[in-house]
Amino acid sequence: MNLNILHETAVAMVAPGKGLLAADESTGTIKKRFDKIGVENTEANRQIYRDLLFTTAGFEQHTSGVILYEETLFQKSLAGQPFPQLLASKGVIPGIKVDEGAKPLPAGGPDETVTEGLDGLRERLQKYKAAGARFAKWRAVISIGAHTPTHTAIHVNAHALARYAALCQEAGIVPIVEPEVLMDADNTVETCERVTEWILSAVFEELFVQRVALEGMILKPNMVVSGIKCPVQAGVAEVAERTIKVLKRHVPAAVPGIAFLSGGQSDLLATAHLDAMNKIGGVPWKLTFSYGRALQAAAQKAWSGKNVDAGRKAHLHRSKMNGLAALGQWSEALEKAA
Ligand code: 13P
Repeated sequence: MNLNILHETAVAMVAPGKGLLAADESTGTIKKRFDKIGVENTEANRQIYRDLLFTTAGFEQHTSGVILYEETLFQKSLAGQPFPQLLASKGVIPGIKVDEGAKPLPAGGPDETVTEGLDGLRERLQKYKAAGARFAKWRAVISIGAHTPTHTAIHVNAHALARYAALCQEAGIVPIVEPEVLMDADNTVETCERVTEWILSAVFEELFVQRVALEGMILKPNMVVSGIKCPVQAGVAEVAERTIKVLKRHVPAAVPGIAFLSGGQSDLLATAHLDAMNKIGGVPWKLTFSYGRALQAAAQKAWSGKNVDAGRKAHLHRSKMNGLAALGQWSEALEKAA
């Protein structure tokens, strides 16, 4: 393991004014997105759509890296260039989702999941590296309910995240460690804060136990928000303050950067929250985006399987707005001006 190379890559992933495009939807997940815009989920359409994203002129000014799904890592652009090479030629770092999804824990407890994909991962990482991937992603899912999360779910997910991260670093690949506390329930922002603290402290303990070098990883957490069905919604300033407080308590300064997931927030709120955190500042890590839905929803709608130019325009706009938010230089007026 060459920690200097891992560290350099991690630092480049959170370069000032840049963030990550999470375009790693599995075939099942992209179907849900395509269904909404009336596009059939075929390999050809997935190639056309991802080509649109990666050939958007100028997106590389705001995008440090792209998380790909395995199919896309081995797919070519419409012009015939392997996607990882196309990205690298623009200075955008190719990455790969390596987990195999959140699977139900054995019966006997509440409905919770553990993310699978460790078996054979060491060998898969070699294959992905040869194809050009320089970082990877593994997403653990923690849900909030009356009796969840349990200690079981917190522990097994933290353990698997650290196992994955250690294997990535052995292969010279920067792990994005993603423990996502879902925002789909009716919990208060205080509960989200408590659960986020719990999973983060468990994850960093496991990373220590499994000798993961913090300088060579990126954390991808949720923000501390109210559950979407909670009648009282925390405002932008409160979300920013609570998120920073929790991160300061649990994320060592050796971690180069924190790239948030959007998790179902609207495009504008995801941008506003990131901007508000960067306006507070005074933190030891870079704070940026690694958005899936909040970067792509507008582009998908504008494209709708037909209008490539409109799709690119929408993609570039959201990339630009989030790039500004990563610097704490975004404003709602800029959205309106565009
Ligand atoms: P969202 O921003 O849509 O939550 O997706 C990010 C991601 O990579 C989820 O694993």
